[in-house]
Amino acid sequence: MALELPVADSRQRNPRVPLTELEQSAFCQVEPLETKPLAEELNAGVRWQRLPDEYVNLTPDQLVERIDANRAALGGSTVILGHHYQREDIIQFADFRGDSLKLSQYAAERQESNFVIFCGVHFMAETAAVLGGEHQRVVLPNINAGCSMADMAPTGDVEDCWDDLMETLGEGSVIPVTYMNSTAEIKALVGRNGGAVCTSSNAGKVVEWAFQQGKRVLFLPDQHLGRNTGLKMGIPLEEMVVWNPFRPLGGHSAEALEESKMILWKGHCSVHTRFTPLQVAKAKAAYPDVNILVHPECPMETVELADYVGSTELIAKTIGEAAPGSVWGVGTEINLVSRLAHENPDKTVFCLDPVVCPCSTMYRIHPAYLLWVTDELLAGRVPNQVTVEEETAHYAKVALDRMLTLV
Ligand code: 13P
Ligand code: SF4
Repeated sequence: MALELPVADSRQRNPRVPLTELEQSAFCQVEPLETKPLAEELNAGVRWQRLPDEYVNLTPDQLVERIDANRAALGGSTVILGHHYQREDIIQFADFRGDSLKLSQYAAERQESNFVIFCGVHFMAETAAVLGGEHQRVVLPNINAGCSMADMAPTGDVEDCWDDLMETLGEGSVIPVTYMNSTAEIKALVGRNGGAVCTSSNAGKVVEWAFQQGKRVLFLPDQHLGRNTGLKMGIPLEEMVVWNPFRPLGGHSAEALEESKMILWKGHCSVHTRFTPLQVAKAKAAYPDVNILVHPECPMETVELADYVGSTELIAKTIGEAAPGSVWGVGTEINLVSRLAHENPDKTVFCLDPVVCPCSTMYRIHPAYLLWVTDELLAGRVPNQVTVEEETAHYAKVALDRMLTLV
């Protein structure tokens, strides 16, 4: 009997897996991570921004010495911001470190420096450019430091989704909320349509606010943060649907969309989806007193087994304030977990994932790039400036300001 294949829908697109997603496992290994000269790290095979030859063979010690000297020479004109997931060899140079919320608040409130070197990923640098002062220039040391989750929500796909939802459900029937981990264009789309940005620190508050504005929320681009937030607010799973951008109407009937309370974009973080219920079970078997603490980008099944769930900032605070002798199995990016283990020697802190697997886009900020951008600034040039087009910046700021007034 001939196999019957479904007839292709003309609106169905070819699924694209973001390159950053394919590259995610490039640095996974069993040994602890250690910074090597850039030339050696380039063997990982991910896309790197090219640097002049003189930078690629410098040893970590040479890099530290030269960056230190450059920082002193740049003085107050330049501030270096570092996200918690940056490697130690970058964090040591950060004037200020934090999670996405803290770093965006810093950009909004403290505008004294002319140059902001953002050691994080592209969407964070864009956010700093939107919230910072007009005189400030934001520099991303390696322009290829993106985010696979943000790449899963390209503007065209989200615009199509929004048009479909308006046509099917009607104007005013959906309030869009986007996680900070999205492009400025997506933040602008949300701002233009009455919605707000959230971070993992304040997703509950922002989604609650969104439900005061309308009866249904479109949550972009992380389905896990959206689902975990909805469940915590008491929204049953049956009232949440996942929008697959490669299927007509996201893969749902108009009735199913009509009955939904949350529409979750089909995106995920390739770092946090590595944390599984089996890892939690193994941690509990090894340490009966273990406290399980995970990031809300982890899948629901893992979050359900955790004792504590929170943003990177909350994870750092919880472990910092924990009783000496306590044991912590943590589900978040390895650079943060290793730093917390190091800074809390009186506690046992370990990563739930036995494989050492950093966020490969955050990891692209190698100290050779930090040296290069500081050399360039000292030479009077602004390298890798991240800018956002005026109208996009305006509406992205509308969505960001809605969040910032809530927290
Ligand atoms: P937070 O900094 O909001 O915890 O987000 C974690 C993350 O994945 C950053 O990319
Ligand atoms: Fe993106 Fe996940 Fe990396 Fe954060 S940890 S930058 S969400 S890929």
